[in-house]
Amino acid sequence: MLINPKPVTVEGSYVKDYEKLYKDSIENPEAFWGNIAKELFWFKPWDKVLDWKYPYARWFTGGQTNIVYNALDRWLKTDVSEKTALIWVSQDGTDKKFTYKELNEEVSRFANGLKSLGVKKGDKVTIYLPRIPEQFIAMLGCLKIGAVHSVVYSGFSADALKNRIDDAQAKVVVCSNAYPYGKKTIESFKNVKEALKDNKTVKNVIVVKRIEGATIPVLNDLGGAQRSEHAHGVKNTVSSDQSLQSYLWWHELVSKQDTICLTEIMEATDTAFILYTSGTTGKPKGIIHAHAGYMVGIYTTLKWVFDIKPDDIFWSTADAGWITGHSYILYSPLINGVTTFVYEGTPDYPDIEIWWKLIEKYKVTKFYTAPTAIRALMKFGEEAVKKHDLSSLKILGSVGEPINPEAWLWYYKNVGREQIPIMDTWWQTETGMFMITPVPSVGLKPGSAFKPFFGIDADVVDDKGNKVPINTQGYLIIKKPWPAMFLDVYNNPARYKETYFEKIPNVYFAGDSAKIDEDGYYWITGRNDDVIKVSGHRLGSAELESAFVSNPKVAEAAVIGKPHEVKGESIKAFIILKVGIQPSDELKAELVQTVRKSIGPIATPDEIDFVEKLPKTRSGKIMRRVLKAQELGQPVGDVSTLED
Ligand code: WTA
Repeated sequence: MLINPKPVTVEGSYVKDYEKLYKDSIENPEAFWGNIAKELFWFKPWDKVLDWKYPYARWFTGGQTNIVYNALDRWLKTDVSEKTALIWVSQDGTDKKFTYKELNEEVSRFANGLKSLGVKKGDKVTIYLPRIPEQFIAMLGCLKIGAVHSVVYSGFSADALKNRIDDAQAKVVVCSNAYPYGKKTIESFKNVKEALKDNKTVKNVIVVKRIEGATIPVLNDLGGAQRSEHAHGVKNTVSSDQSLQSYLWWHELVSKQDTICLTEIMEATDTAFILYTSGTTGKPKGIIHAHAGYMVGIYTTLKWVFDIKPDDIFWSTADAGWITGHSYILYSPLINGVTTFVYEGTPDYPDIEIWWKLIEKYKVTKFYTAPTAIRALMKFGEEAVKKHDLSSLKILGSVGEPINPEAWLWYYKNVGREQIPIMDTWWQTETGMFMITPVPSVGLKPGSAFKPFFGIDADVVDDKGNKVPINTQGYLIIKKPWPAMFLDVYNNPARYKETYFEKIPNVYFAGDSAKIDEDGYYWITGRNDDVIKVSGHRLGSAELESAFVSNPKVAEAAVIGKPHEVKGESIKAFIILKVGIQPSDELKAELVQTVRKSIGPIATPDEIDFVEKLPKTRSGKIMRRVLKAQELGQPVGDVSTLED
């Protein structure tokens, strides 16, 4: 099935001839990216577009810029200054709007607040906030002064937060006292307090008061009586848990600050942020992104794939705790000078029509979400969507996991009224930007992510690196560097090399499998490593297993992802208990809690089986592949290395 774009879509499209432009871009990617980069602001132009010393690519070397200069400062002397940069709608339906000028002022205040606490270029700041404006202000504020943010998704537990704070050696943590989540109130501050026990690096904790109320932990619990001193920059006091941190309210910190703060000049390859993501080992990896290359990559991809025009209101339903939120809720929409839209709540709160109501009310023009959400909303039928006037929409998008043709068509018919195209964008935390994606003017096949973006040299190969035949599944690789490519794995260059550049020498190994069909369309079939995508959230088997074995009753654990109708994948665990421990339903419930405590509610397993044995290699490695094949009733494949 080929779905061709409507003439008006093609007319408005930046890219009219994909094939030609792709060919040109691949013949000379450096000229291609260099030309685009000139559309942005540089304190100093680059000497070299690309410096590629396998396995490290450095883009725009010698250049100086700052993402925030391009996202905010650049607009201040233009008409964009008075335009809405951010529309934020709270769970109770009230909204807050910030013009570019206002957002810049808030960001400057916060940035000055960080400076008053002694935060300097290169210092790490962990941001553990829900989807509220302060999440974005904090991110921008860090980059403005050259500090490095590490955003931790608000759904992660205290333990997961602790690991990330410790690995990054954060100096400051920004969090909220609590926040509403559907009918519940999440007491996020408690997690922070727990995460900071025995911590030696964090000096200040900045707390946003998202919820008023006595039942919520207040700063006084933490010896905050002296907090006015901290705001004056006086050296700090010891809180009740004997750590060295001072706690201060966000509003008290920023109210004293100036609304002007110079944006730091950054080297092109300076680190902008670290974002932790799951891989094949128990420990999440800190993915490092730089200012310049990342900025150029995300700017171009959003602009061309979503045909960004000045009046756009772009809504990505992701969270800034994930890469989608970094690249396409916050930075790219602002670099493109348009309005980014954010809804605090979940897709089903206060009811399952909320997304469609918001699109109608705020006249959202571009809408970007995940297949899991579409599948969940599909269950409630089309009526909930059809009631609403969604005619403001011009382009739809999908990300996070393969979209099944059925969900694609439902989205196309009901949300897009068969008038507007769906951009199924394949990319990763590591890639920073869309890699395999359509542009609006091309013919689409439901379930296919189309072809590589301009300048992206992708392929599907076997384990020797040879191209596989048409319609044959193989490993998805990228053969040449791209601008938003990550710089490294924080504190772990060996892991960078091994995971991404040695599986198949000289190319980037994505960890996904794919097929290319007779028309050159890519069909992503899912991960080929031990990464599980649950509702689009990225989790690692090993990470889940180490969570299970943190329970003293568990001897061994093996975790696999199983296909799930709504979530894409669900978590199934096989557990060997310690000698003398009896399996029971209570114990299952306890283990669910163990995992939730160690990672967070997003990692809740759907199934737990108690077993006597696990399939292992002779060297003792658990063969999850065998478990998965058995579970799904598929051929087990080569088991010559199996011990038993
Ligand atoms: C999966 C999310 C199929 C893929 C931006 C990838 C997709 C992982 C798609 C990265 C898509 C993302 N089609 N699969 N359009 N988009 N994925 O780092 O398995 O959270 O490797 O980045 O999501 O997840 P991450």
